[in-house]
Amino acid sequence: MKTLITNGTVVSATGRVVADVLIDGERIQALLAPGSQLLGSELSASVDRVIDAAGKYVIPGGIDAHTHMQMPFGGTEASDTFETGTRAAAWGGTTTIIDFAVQKHGERVMDALAAWHDKAAGVCAVDYAFHQIIGHVTEDSLQALGSLADEGITSYKMFMAYPGVFYSDDAQILRAMQRAADLGLMTMMHAENGPVIDVLAEQLVEAGKTGPYYHGIARAWQAEEEATHRAIMLANLTGAPLYVVHVSAKQAVAQLATARDAGQNVFGETCPQYLYLSLEDQLGAPGFEGAKWVCSTPLRSKHEHHQEHMWRALRTNDVQMVATDHCPFCMSGQKELGVGDFRKIPNGIGSVEHRMDLMYQGVVTGEITLERWVELTSTTPARMFGIYGQKGVIQPGADADVVVYDPNGHTSIGLGKTHHMNMDHSAWEGFEIDGHVDTVISRGRVIVDGDRYLGSAGDGRFVRRGLSQYLV
Ligand code: URP
Ligand code: ZN
Ligand code: ZN
Ligand code: ZN
Repeated sequence: MKTLITNGTVVSATGRVVADVLIDGERIQALLAPGSQLLGSELSASVDRVIDAAGKYVIPGGIDAHTHMQMPFGGTEASDTFETGTRAAAWGGTTTIIDFAVQKHGERVMDALAAWHDKAAGVCAVDYAFHQIIGHVTEDSLQALGSLADEGITSYKMFMAYPGVFYSDDAQILRAMQRAADLGLMTMMHAENGPVIDVLAEQLVEAGKTGPYYHGIARAWQAEEEATHRAIMLANLTGAPLYVVHVSAKQAVAQLATARDAGQNVFGETCPQYLYLSLEDQLGAPGFEGAKWVCSTPLRSKHEHHQEHMWRALRTNDVQMVATDHCPFCMSGQKELGVGDFRKIPNGIGSVEHRMDLMYQGVVTGEITLERWVELTSTTPARMFGIYGQKGVIQPGADADVVVYDPNGHTSIGLGKTHHMNMDHSAWEGFEIDGHVDTVISRGRVIVDGDRYLGSAGDGRFVRRGLSQYLV
């Protein structure tokens, strides 16, 4: 099957060019000058399908490097399965997800990983890879780190938050980082001081402050800044590359910037919710509504201007990537577990379908350039997590994961059931996007064509990753 995408503006992390993109089978075969379609040649005769992209952007498919499909958490399980979540990703122009295989307390890492493969195998709409969560640092877990790279998994995550669940103390983190430094693995960190947050949360609940808003008060920015600093220092001591997930506080960004200026391999990821939503407007919504936006790290106060700093950090490369931390829970039967006690609200927001659109909005408002949009959402995730060349770029030999994006289109999200995620609400209710995902191609197959879904469960394959291509 040969496909020719004609007359579009092909955008990469470093520039844009009007070109035709020729796809042969699962791969990009060539970029051609428009009109030079080799008319009359053997090649042109053998093209099966032509997609007219005049006036539109042709970009590498989105890579969402932080999702939690079917994650057991907060006494329930994230509501998107690999099937529903990856289909929603496809609708939104994301053609690869990197999900977190979860090792729970008392479980063996390799068993947990096998269980994660079982969940995802044969049902995904788009390609998928894994990071490994180490939820219990034991001798066995440390040993298991040594096998991960052979499994195509070159990053693992620990938590300085959630005592009694996934929490690791400093001694455990130090040991894991020492081993990761030897192995060349990327250490990913949920950087919030969990023990401090638990005390603050308990005090708030005892004082009768039980609503969703207080989730944000308990998870103070100081707890994020402190843990970020501590993670950076432990990484510095051990020489382990460090990637801090879901950064929301401007003070944590400053910690990352200082370490990066000193030449340390330290990276930061933020999420759309920290660029658009706030403690006051969403977590502070009337009644129990704010539960929709309970996630960790939490939404920050608009009066402290975190969003402004975060957009700036995305421009200056103090923060390198935007992932979603997609971890959806329905209000009914899930979020409502925390009525009367915000500590029992399952933490997480669902956004996997909207990341490309929401970040394109930053192009529309002038916060980032078109090229930076592609870099933040596709090219850097590919380089950061060792799949660049295969993914994250439109060039001969790369997987034909391509999105045709219409800057003159429009996308209304959230009002009513306008999304495809398995949720009974949307965290993005009322967002109007100038732009629209028109066509999504996954390894050469058109899986979204306008408002038609043409893919099927099981199209997506497991992607084995190499070591990070982003280290200095
Ligand atoms: O609220 C969140 N972020 N839920 C998912 C788990 C995590 O901490 O990433
Ligand atoms: Zn986290
Ligand atoms: Zn997460
Ligand atoms: Zn549409």
